[in-house]
Formats: sequence, C-alpha cells, structure tokens
Amino acid sequence: MSLLSNLSRSLGRTPTSNGVALGQVIALANQKGGVAKTTTTLNLAVAFKELGHEVLVVDLDPQGNLTMSQGMNPDDVERSMFDVLVHSLPIEEVIVRAEVDVAVSSIDLAGAELALSSMIGRERALQKALLPVRSRYDYILIDTPPSLGLLTINALTAADNVIVPVQCEYLSLRGLVQLEGTLSMIRENLNPTVEIRGILPTMYDSRTLHAREAVEMLKENFGDLVFDTRIRKTIRYAEAPVQGSSVLKYEPSGPAADAYRQLAKEVLNGAKPRTREHA
Ligand SMILES: Nc1ncnc2c1ncn2[C@@H]1O[C@H](COP(=O)(O)OP(=O)(O)O)[C@@H](O)[C@H]1O
Ligand SMILES: [Mg+2]
Repeated sequence: MSLLSNLSRSLGRTPTSNGVALGQVIALANQKGGVAKTTTTLNLAVAFKELGHEVLVVDLDPQGNLTMSQGMNPDDVERSMFDVLVHSLPIEEVIVRAEVDVAVSSIDLAGAELALSSMIGRERALQKALLPVRSRYDYILIDTPPSLGLLTINALTAADNVIVPVQCEYLSLRGLVQLEGTLSMIRENLNPTVEIRGILPTMYDSRTLHAREAVEMLKENFGDLVFDTRIRKTIRYAEAPVQGSSVLKYEPSGPAADAYRQLAKEVLNGAKPRTREHA
C-alpha cells in the first residue's frame, strides 16, 4: 500500500488516481420517518469533529430538521440545497458554519424532486455538487427525507457508504428489504461501489422484551451489518435540538453523547469494539 493511500486511510479519505484525497460520503437513510436519521446525522458528525475530523453535513430533507437542530430557521433560509441541486449554485454558498458545517435545507427543497425529474443527470446532481468540496472534508454526512424518492436516490448515488438507523420498536424488516432493493438498483445503474456500512438500532429500551427481540431479529437477518452500538431511548435527544445543539454539546458528559462517540469509533475503526450498552 502506498504512503498516500495509508495517509488517506488514516484521515478517512479515499485517494483518487490524481492523488487528491477525497472525504468519505456517508448517507443516513431509511424511508421510514422518526427512526433517528437526523439525530444520528448531527450527533455522529459532531462526534467525528471531536475526534479532529473536518465534517460537513448536508440537509437533504425539505422538513429541514437538521438545519433547525443547529438553531437555524429553514423558513428564513434564502438559498438552500434546492438551489444547489436545481440551479447548480455552488454548495459553498449554502454552507453555514455551526457545530459542524451545514449545507442547509429550506421548504423549497420539497419542489426539488419535481424540478429535477425533467433534468438530464437528475440522479447525479448531489454527487456533482459535492465534488468541489470533497477534498476539504474528511467526512460528509447526508441526512435524507423519509422516502425513496429522487432526493434519497441523489444521496445514495453520491455516497460511499450508507448507515441505516432503525427504531427498535415497530421494526420494519420489510422496509429494510425495500431499501436494500433500492440500493441494488443504485449499484447496477448509478454507483457500483455504494455499501451499507451498518444498521444502527435506535430508541433502544433494554427493559422491554420487545426491543431486545427487535435487535435479535435484526441480527438474524443482517448479521455483522448490525452495529454493536445501540442508541438508547432518552429524552435528551429531543431536548438538545430545541437548544439548537447536538447532544454532545448539550450534555457533553452524559451517556447520550457517549453513545454517539462510541458509534463514531465503530464507524472509524471498521472493526467492532466489544458491545457496551449505554444507560
Ligand atoms: N434515542 C432516542 N431516544 C428518544 N428519542 C429520540 C432518540 N433519537 C431521536 N429521538 C427523537 O425522535 C424523533 C425523531 O427523530 P429524528 O432524528 O428526527 O428521526 P428521522 O430523521 O428519522 O425522522 C425526534 O423528536 C428526536 O428528537
Ligand atoms: Mg429527519
């Protein structure tokens, strides 16, 4: 292995043939709403940042929850990912510096699917938009809307890896099979190397048999793809965004923050640490 690729790997970057190191792009996806996609995008990003990495998060959900969770109002946003995707505005123009860099969403983004649908290269608009900034970041995390529409397809086409948060209650294995189906379609047609990096059990309540069974079922079906880290159910994750902050800033020494630090290490190491559940 060359010195460059060693160095790039230690920085979490993919070396290209022309020697430029590119940040890793990770999409957070699950077409079900309320499974902690947005919560995971922000807190994992801040955990990466704490470890010294340069991180960009991209809010690709027209609801703008990620943008809001960093204290911004998507209704006041003048230019957003909509303009980047539909009008080829350079992404730098919509990046706001907060706990991490955030490429912001606005309600306009709801019209992006329709606007993109008649454009040539409609599935690659995000991939193209990220190119000029990829060498600047170690990690680019993309928060996606609760659907498998064109915005999510753009995220999966731009991504090297996908993390799939799954709520331990109301576990929908059918939904996961559908997501895998979409991913194989993306691999065949748009992005041959995109992989599921891991499935993350969220809102885990170890006191209930139901939650433990849900994780067992995930492991039976997806084996090693299931992260050892489980994100426990706690109100902290809902409290932090009201203050416009990540849980790592809101309660730095609490178990909710530690859970995402553990996830960050698990994602970075590739190798799985021993299971340690968080209270
Ligand atoms: N581990 C958790 N325990 C309890 N509530 C959580 C947890 N993770 C997220 N939440 C809350 O659940 C709701 C849905 O989470 P969110 O991240 O917005 O999901 P999604 O982006 O998948 O729709 C939010 O109100 C969030 O604060
Ligand atoms: Mg969300």
